[in-house]
Amino acid sequence: MPETGYPYRSKKTDDICDDVCGEASRAALSMSKRLRCALRWFDFKALLLLLIGVPILVFVIHVHGQKITYFLRPLWESPPKPFRTIPHYHHENVSMENLCKLHGWGTREIPRRVFDAVLFSNELDILEVRWNELSPYVSEFILLESNSTFTGLKKPLFFASNRSRFKFVESRLTYGTVGGRFVKGENPFVEESYQRVALDQLIRIAGISDDDLLIMSDVDEIPSGHTINLLRWCDDIPEMLHLQLRNYLYSFEFYIDDDSWRASIHRYRDGKTRYAHFRQTDDLLADSGWHCSFCFRHISEFIFKMKAYSHVDRIRFSYYLSPSRIQDVICHGADLFDMLPEEYTFQKIIAKLGPIPSSYSAVNLPSYLIQNADRYRYLLPGNCKRESG
Ligand SMILES: *[C@@H]1O[C@H](CO)[C@@H](O)[C@H](O)[C@H]1NC(C)=O
Ligand SMILES: *[C@@H]1O[C@H](CO)[C@@H](O)[C@H](O)[C@H]1NC(C)=O
Ligand SMILES: *[C@@H]1O[C@H](CO)[C@@H](O)[C@H](O)[C@H]1NC(C)=O
Repeated sequence: MPETGYPYRSKKTDDICDDVCGEASRAALSMSKRLRCALRWFDFKALLLLLIGVPILVFVIHVHGQKITYFLRPLWESPPKPFRTIPHYHHENVSMENLCKLHGWGTREIPRRVFDAVLFSNELDILEVRWNELSPYVSEFILLESNSTFTGLKKPLFFASNRSRFKFVESRLTYGTVGGRFVKGENPFVEESYQRVALDQLIRIAGISDDDLLIMSDVDEIPSGHTINLLRWCDDIPEMLHLQLRNYLYSFEFYIDDDSWRASIHRYRDGKTRYAHFRQTDDLLADSGWHCSFCFRHISEFIFKMKAYSHVDRIRFSYYLSPSRIQDVICHGADLFDMLPEEYTFQKIIAKLGPIPSSYSAVNLPSYLIQNADRYRYLLPGNCKRESG
């Protein structure tokens, strides 16, 4: 006769104890004997736990180890010194003289010349948005590309073969290439700094001189046009200034925070100014533009970027590169590398756990994006599906 699960199991347990410690259970059961029986049963379970539990633990650490270390980061790393954030005033209907005065700066008779210099990888669409945003205010665009990614993979010269798309800056463009060194197993940051040194030379070739403004930022860190206009018209601005940008991921649908600070603008000093993408000063101008990471049209571009960028070690499993997974991750606002937020306090980590919520605002975005909304639909809210290929 089949018995119901629970009583059957409990009877079985008694049998096992009988078998294992038969003597003890049949006898008058002195306290110490009963304890010994319990202990032996405990040993057996402990062994079982060890045999099953340890491999599971090893597996969990293998899969989620990075998450565990990221989560515990606030324990051993303290946050960097906070920036001195400069309030930023802007309204279309306020005169430049008044705007400069609101920042405590004077106004110039003629604006400074502005040079915008980038290291280019494959972000053609974002480059077009960037250059159109900055075009009215920039004297010279400088672009350097290499046939090597930072991770030492061979890459086509994407800009060179798509240059006809950028006729609108041709007369103001200083373009250069640098051959990769293709050193195996090297830290990607070495190739990156090598390319930045080459960019320094190209900036000089472009004809920059003292007190011209130089924008140092990645292609996807786009200062707003009015910010650059303000800085070229106002006198007495700081020698160097970091730009606080609004952080987006995949498109302008997924707004993360306003903690992007790596972009900077410099009053050029010959022999002193060096192209850099790290922290160079404490001054940060608030709300100065947009940083759109992994904002690509094609899934293949996501895969290229994941392999090409300096944190290539984050591809811990090859299925991370599967196109259908990538499409899913984009539409959910999740993380391509399945990582936790990189923050310095538990409060911030916990606040950012889980996917990024969708934003439905397309207000105050780069104007070229809105003027060409049909072509750039995938960058606007509500259009997460990407073209394959
Ligand atoms: C801009 O300023 C002018 C003059 O001060 C005023 O007449 C006009 O209504 C303002 N426009 C907006 C949109 O605020
Ligand atoms: C850009 O150039 C590459 C060749 O290097 C070509 O394969 C690709 O189709 C071009 N991309 C676009 C978006 O036109
Ligand atoms: C990269 O470019 C350099 C300089 O143009 C060239 O000498 C080298 O052969 C190229 N390497 C590859 C792998 O294409």
